[in-house]
Amino acid sequence: MSARDTRLKVVKFSKDFLLASRLLQVFAPFNKLFRFIYDFNMLTSWVHKHKKDPMLLNDFYKPVRHYDSRLNSFALIAEHYQFDRQPIVYLEFGVAAGGSFRWWMNKCTHPNSRFYGFDTFEGLPEVWGMYAKGDMSYDVPKVDDSRGRLIKGTFQDTLSGFLDEQGPALKQQRKLIHMDADLFSATLFALSQLYPYLSAGDVIIFDEFNVYGHEFKAFKYFTECFYIKLRPIAAQNNFYHAAFVVEK
Ligand SMILES: C[S@@+](CC[C@H](N)C(=O)[O-])C[C@H]1O[C@@H](n2cnc3c(N)ncnc32)[C@H](O)[C@@H]1O
Repeated sequence: MSARDTRLKVVKFSKDFLLASRLLQVFAPFNKLFRFIYDFNMLTSWVHKHKKDPMLLNDFYKPVRHYDSRLNSFALIAEHYQFDRQPIVYLEFGVAAGGSFRWWMNKCTHPNSRFYGFDTFEGLPEVWGMYAKGDMSYDVPKVDDSRGRLIKGTFQDTLSGFLDEQGPALKQQRKLIHMDADLFSATLFALSQLYPYLSAGDVIIFDEFNVYGHEFKAFKYFTECFYIKLRPIAAQNNFYHAAFVVEK
């Protein structure tokens, strides 16, 4: 038997033994801590690898965050990629009261642009950090612009129907995707569904990118599982908000 075969045998025996004996369960009370350390280290490594990438805007590191400064990067992105001058499809995942949805509609005035917003409008479908299930619940906002449409329900229930209807046309159109659902599950689900319709040059904005166990983790799994390259183009509030261009 070769040395490699022996090594494989030992590895298999050890794993089966750990499974049968449940030995590692003694560490189960520390699972959350281990997961925090692992996830946070993944985020830290990513940030330090990309902090000097050329971007339209990057304020890393600053000691205090200003949430509303995300509008600076929205404006820069809109102008740099001419989203305010050409027809685009804007897809927002997580609309809540419609603040960012309205901002993008007002900014992108081309008559052939289309705006789709997805939300339960019954709040978060699960706990997110200190927010409970059902927090962020709002009435469906009024959209006084025929270019916009809001789709109520979980992404898991509504997105595939929408893509069946709009998908073939979507592939050809310039897309700006705004991921603002906060949750790992919602973000990864939406990105995975959208993957077949993404083209080079599409832009994806994450509103809570540096939340290590949620949007960042979804970004990481998505890029690793779909072999897709997303290049950072803007980062604000220490990568809390981050935007990427698809380089498929
Ligand atoms: C932070 S709020 C969005 C804020 C909004 N984009 C803004 O900037 O004004 C997050 C929203 O994501 C929605 N959401 C989270 N997971 C979802 C899911 N799986 N399906 C539908 N909506 C979801 C919640 O209902 C909540 O309204």
